[in-house]
Amino acid sequence: MKVAIGNDHAGVELKNYLIDYLKKKNIEVVNVGTDTTDSCDYPVYAKKVAGEVIDKNVDFGILICGTGIGISIAANKVKGIRAAKVNNTTEAKLAREHNHANIICLGARIIGNVIASEIVDSFIEAKESSAENHLRRLSMLD
Ligand code: RB5
Repeated sequence: MKVAIGNDHAGVELKNYLIDYLKKKNIEVVNVGTDTTDSCDYPVYAKKVAGEVIDKNVDFGILICGTGIGISIAANKVKGIRAAKVNNTTEAKLAREHNHANIICLGARIIGNVIASEIVDSFIEAKESSAENHLRRLSMLD
């Protein structure tokens, strides 16, 4: 499995924690986020991760900013991206099952590192539902 991860200045610490966490699980990580806490603009990193997902270079993406909100709004501007801002494991599971989310967005100032890693696990373990009602709604999004 291969994952792209991107973040602004608010997400550096959580990003580094998740990179270590994913590598220990033998998941390959492409880091396209900033590695400094100098102020920067989250749309830049949303676009980079979205590009990796759309080009099918990775299985899914992780985006981190202070709240997870700005970076999710930015990622969802890219056609084909379904970025879900999630705060807990239930949302992560359902974002994949019902919404076929291809990026999860996390708020580094909202959730702790351990919850974030559990969210990532929940997303990875979930399967995309092929139920007709969900597929119909997804095609309406496109
Ligand atoms: C940066 O201060 C902050 O605005 C950004 O990380 C994010 O929370 C925006 O949604």
